[in-house]
Amino acid sequence: MSNKKLTIAIDGFSSCGKSTVAKELARKLGYVYVDTGAMYRAVTLYCMRHGLISDDGAVDEAGLKKVIANISITFTHNELTATNTTWLNGEQVEDEIRRIEVSNKVSYVSRIDFVRSQMVKLQQDMGKQGGIVMDGRDIGTVVFPNADLKIFMTASPEVRAQRRFDELTAKGEKVTFDEILENVNQRDYLDQHREVSPLRQADDAHVVDNSHMTREEQFAVILKLVEEAEKK
Ligand code: DC
Repeated sequence: MSNKKLTIAIDGFSSCGKSTVAKELARKLGYVYVDTGAMYRAVTLYCMRHGLISDDGAVDEAGLKKVIANISITFTHNELTATNTTWLNGEQVEDEIRRIEVSNKVSYVSRIDFVRSQMVKLQQDMGKQGGIVMDGRDIGTVVFPNADLKIFMTASPEVRAQRRFDELTAKGEKVTFDEILENVNQRDYLDQHREVSPLRQADDAHVVDNSHMTREEQFAVILKLVEEAEKK
């Protein structure tokens, strides 16, 4: 590995293991890792707590616009456990933002233009120095269109639903596989069809379909791409 500090963008569908790879990569390279999905999840949790979103996903946009600049989202990283923690206005919300109630509503918040422009601004600030791995939906297309390396990850909806089901049941959440599959399909649709920055593969992104890859195989493929990008 060289001393060059790359900007690495990892985009793709929900639950296809982007954050696992991004975290592992950041650790290996000594880079900062930013999970942009956590930021949209934190704004969604804020809306849920402040009566700014209804049960069926209708957002009080005027109300949210008034307070968006005061929503502080930060991350801390624990070297020992290699984990990242998300903070919302100084409160630790890492577990709460992963709950299914938040997953079911996040697409309604992440499609709002002023929410996106505020998050994109924060993300660009975090990546100013390079040496960053950022995962999301629009990192290679909008946040860092000049990233040194762009990866677009994908896997079949069933494989992704199974992974998320295993993750949530391991944490003790009472969910069914069908409910998770429905959430995965619904989010794919909403992510790809929203008006502002829909999920799409950047023209210069490398596609990695990990439906039939082990974590190790996938990591090897991605490390090779990093080595090639370092030589450029
Ligand atoms: O990666 P995730 O599943 O935690 O992301 C949560 C939601 O946030 C997802 O449904 C789409 C949205 N998102 C987005 O619109 N843009 C990003 N850069 C990251 C996430």
